[in-house]
Amino acid sequence: MCGIIAYIGEKNSVQILMEGLKRLEYRGYDSCGLAVMAEGAPYCVKTTGRIINLEKKLANVNISSRMGIAHTRWATHGKPSEENAHPHFNKDHTIFVIHNGIIENYAILKRELMKLGHPFSSETDTEVIAHLIEEFYDGELLPAVLKCLDKITGTFGLAVFHAEEPDQIVLARRGSPLVIGLGRNEMLAASDVNAILRHTDKVIYLDDDEVAVIRRDGFQIMSLTQETVYRTPEKVEWQIADTEKDGYPHYMLKEIFEQPETVLNAFRGRIIPEEGVSKLGGLEPVIDQLKHMKRLIVVACGTSYHAGLLGQYMFEKMTDVDVDVEIASEFRYRNVHPHDGTVVLAISQSGETADSIAALREARRKGALTLGMVNTVGSTIARETVAGIYNHAGPEIGVASTKIFTSQVVILALFALLLGRYQKLSMTDGAGIIRAIQQLPEQISHILDRADHIRAIAQKYYKYNSFLFIGRMCNYPTALEGALKLKEISYIHAEGYPAGELKHGPIALLSPHCPVVAVCPQDSMYEKTISNIKEVEARSANIIAVCTEGDDKLTEITRDIIEVPATVEFLNPVLCNVPLQLLAYYCALYRGCEIDKPRNLAKSVTVE
Ligand code: M6R
Repeated sequence: MCGIIAYIGEKNSVQILMEGLKRLEYRGYDSCGLAVMAEGAPYCVKTTGRIINLEKKLANVNISSRMGIAHTRWATHGKPSEENAHPHFNKDHTIFVIHNGIIENYAILKRELMKLGHPFSSETDTEVIAHLIEEFYDGELLPAVLKCLDKITGTFGLAVFHAEEPDQIVLARRGSPLVIGLGRNEMLAASDVNAILRHTDKVIYLDDDEVAVIRRDGFQIMSLTQETVYRTPEKVEWQIADTEKDGYPHYMLKEIFEQPETVLNAFRGRIIPEEGVSKLGGLEPVIDQLKHMKRLIVVACGTSYHAGLLGQYMFEKMTDVDVDVEIASEFRYRNVHPHDGTVVLAISQSGETADSIAALREARRKGALTLGMVNTVGSTIARETVAGIYNHAGPEIGVASTKIFTSQVVILALFALLLGRYQKLSMTDGAGIIRAIQQLPEQISHILDRADHIRAIAQKYYKYNSFLFIGRMCNYPTALEGALKLKEISYIHAEGYPAGELKHGPIALLSPHCPVVAVCPQDSMYEKTISNIKEVEARSANIIAVCTEGDDKLTEITRDIIEVPATVEFLNPVLCNVPLQLLAYYCALYRGCEIDKPRNLAKSVTVE
C-alpha cells in the first residue's frame, strides 16, 4: 500500500527521503515520487515502477534541500503512471501533497474545482486536495488545509507543504496511519515507523482527525477544530538492525528462520507452568469480563484469518466459549448481533488492515467488547481496542506473513489456556499444554535444520502450475495457509481444502499434473486423512506429505515426506506450517519470483 515519508531539518532531505522510500518498499507500490524545497523553489520528480527509477532521475540533479515529502503509490484511482504518482500539486506548483487513503467525494469536488478553473493533470482522487487547498489559501497553509479537510470525505494520511512557507509541513490523519518522528533539530513523519527508525526512535502516533504541523525545531498537534492535543512521545521498541536482512537473501527467509525466537517471544513471561495457566498482561484490565465469556468472534484477513481459524479449535478444546471466525471484509457488512458479553478479537500483524478496523468498529458500535492481537505497537487496532495482546515478534518486512502466523497461533493457545483454566481445563492438562508450547522453539529449529530437504522437494515440483493442499480439523487451516503462501510468492495456483471435502468436487482436479500437499501428522484425524491420501494416490497425483517423525505408513505411499516433531494436536499447525513456508519460498526462488515484493500485493492493506 501507499507509503509516506516527510522530512524537515538540517540534513540533505533528498537523501533522507530516498532512504525512507526504500524502507517503505516492502509495503508494495507501483510508482513513486518526491517534492522538496530547493533553494527557494520547489522541485518535484515522479516515476512509475521502482525507487531505483527515481534514483536514476535524480542522479544528475544537484539539489540542496532541507525539507520535503515523498511517496510510494499503490494505484487505486487511475493506473500506475507518472501523472498519477504523488506528490500532486496545484496549477502554479506551490502546494505539494502526498496522500494515503481514498477521497470518496473527489469526483464532485473535481467537477466544482474544474469549473473554478483548476486544471487537473491526473486521474487520482488525491489531486483534488492540492487544488482545494489552493482555493482556500490566503497566505497561511494550516487554515487552508483545515478548510479542505472539512470538505472531503473518506480516509487520509496526508503531508502537505507550500513553497512560500518552507519552514513547515502540515500532516493530517483519518483512517490512514501517520507517525511523527522527533529528532534533534529535525522532524520526520511517515506512514510506517520503519521509514524513520534510522533517524529517531522517539515517536508520536497521530490519531484519527488530528492535524499536525512539524517544523525543524518543534511540532504542534491539534484536532480538526484546532484544539491543541498534548501527547507524550513513545519509544519504538524495534532497532534498525531488526529491519535489515542480516545476511539472508530475502526478508521472508530471514523471518522464517527467526521463528524459534519469535515463538519464544510469544510465550516468554506469559506462562505459569506450576499452575498450568498463562498470564496475558494486556488482558488484565478486562479479565473479569473475559473469565466467563460465552462467545468470541474473531475478525481478520488473510494469514491472520487462518490463525483465527486455528484459534477456534483451541477454544473448543480448552474452553466453553463458542467461537466464530469471520473474514473481516465480509463481517463489516453483515448484520451480526453480538449478544451480551460477546467479545470481538481482531487479529492483525500490521494493526492497520482497513477491513479489520472497519469490522472492529462495527462490532464496537453494536456493543461488543473489542480486543486486538497485533504486532505493530501503536497501530490503529492497538489503540482502538479496549485491551489486547502484542506479538512482540519484531518487524515483519516480507510481504508474505510467516513468523507472525506462528506467533499468532501460539498466542491464541495462551489465550484459550487462560480462559480454559477459568472454565473446563484441569491444571494437569494446562501444564501439559504449557510443556508442549515450551518445546516449540527447539522443534522449529529442528525443522529449519532440514531446510535443504524441503528445498530439494521444491526443486522437484516448482514447475507445476497447480497444487492442492489438504488437511483435516486443525490442519485444514494449515492447508489453507500453505496454499496461500505458495500462491502469493510463486504465483502457482494453489487451493487449500479439508481433505474430507475432496470427494465433493476438487477430486476432479487430481491428475499427475496437480501435486497434492497432504498435512497429516499423527493426530485424532490421522487414519481419516490417510484414507483421503489413498484417494489421491489412486488418481495418480504426486503427494508431498507433512507428517510426524517416524511415520511408516506415509513412507509407503510417497517418497516426498517432510517430517515434523510430535506435539499436542492443536499445535501441529505451528510445526507443519514451517516446512510449507519453506516449500513456498524455495518454489518461488526456483521460479525467479520477487519474493519479498510479490506482484500486486501490499504488506499492509490500508484501503478497502
Ligand atoms: O496485517 P494483517 O495481519 O491484518 O494483514 C492481513 C492480510 O493482509 C495478510 O495476512 C496477507 O494475507 C499476507 N500477505 C499473508 O501472507
